[in-house]
Amino acid sequence: MAFHALAVKPDVYWVGAIDWSVRNFHGYSTNRGSTYNAYLILDDKITLIDTVKAPFAQELLERVASVIDPARIDIVISNHAEPDHSGAIPAVARACPHATFYASAPKGVAGLTSRYGQLPCQAARTGESISIGRRTLRFFTTPMLHWPDNMVTYCPEDRILYSNDGFGQHLATSERFDDETDWAVLLQEAQKYYANILMLYGKQAQRTVEAVSGLDIDLIANGHGVLYRSHIKEILAAYRKWSAGETDHTGAVVYDTMWGSTERLARTIAEAMSAAGIPTKLFDLREIHVSDIMTDLLTCEYLAVGSPTLNNQMMPSVEGFLGYFRGLSPRRHKAFAFGSYGWGGQSVPLVEKALEAAGCTIALPSIRAVDVPSEDQLEKIYEDVKTLG
Ligand code: FEO
Repeated sequence: MAFHALAVKPDVYWVGAIDWSVRNFHGYSTNRGSTYNAYLILDDKITLIDTVKAPFAQELLERVASVIDPARIDIVISNHAEPDHSGAIPAVARACPHATFYASAPKGVAGLTSRYGQLPCQAARTGESISIGRRTLRFFTTPMLHWPDNMVTYCPEDRILYSNDGFGQHLATSERFDDETDWAVLLQEAQKYYANILMLYGKQAQRTVEAVSGLDIDLIANGHGVLYRSHIKEILAAYRKWSAGETDHTGAVVYDTMWGSTERLARTIAEAMSAAGIPTKLFDLREIHVSDIMTDLLTCEYLAVGSPTLNNQMMPSVEGFLGYFRGLSPRRHKAFAFGSYGWGGQSVPLVEKALEAAGCTIALPSIRAVDVPSEDQLEKIYEDVKTLG
């Protein structure tokens, strides 16, 4: 047997799977892989909380079997029907023929039934609890964080919050706890996760953070990445900041370029913003994935987006970025558009329109240059952009 359970509290085991290889999670660039966390509780009623992605079902069952026979599992709680957490349910249902499943009412139950057919499934509602012996498991539905069915489960006796997607990070490591991992890396991955998965649902995230802040928690057992036992206050504070839409006085310049002119504008603008006291990062869409850019856009105040004109349009990479950005609905940036063009020059007004459609406030008139910007033009752009400070 290659896969073993790891005790995270007395009689509570991590039995998830580590996905070292995943690099594209439906369009999210998972540069550091991920984990799918599941938990086994040994009590009068043996309980499994969440499962894993389907290809890892055997890994989950082997980890369970390192502690008890999977056939002895009485209860399976599914906090979320998305297949990275529920994909192994058919295998679990076969291995645990006596198990009763719990999912949120009505969306969780409907989601599991739609994907996996009829299961012996009970509906869980906010505030309801079940006793599994010495422990109680209390359910809190968290709809649209980030699917309609999401819920979290709290065990007051163990002071564990089983938070599923909430507080997750796509981070594959052999360590399971926050204090065994580089905190800066962990926080960056948690920020990237929030930016790309949860940003659109800030109000729901705020409600969830407020609901769980009143609980006595000494372990956040999440659905992805490492578990929090030493940095609970810090991750709750980060979620409060992110979900409130608080920004830092920083900036981002995002662009693509054809023959280097829009890039010259981009570098000039980034220098000017930094000189104006707005620390600014430059993101070249040819090299940097949109999901990595969103990590910074979660907290930055200023955004400049540049594109040359291609076939009377902005470049497809810029259009793709702006579509993704708009979908996440950050609605807080002070923004402006820029770009070079040979003739026509339609891209810059289109970028400005897309920024407005994404809820940005236009902070500067758009900047355009024909062909190659001259040194005098760059100097004027530098001075104009510096007025942002
Ligand atoms: Fe990790 Fe919404 O699934």
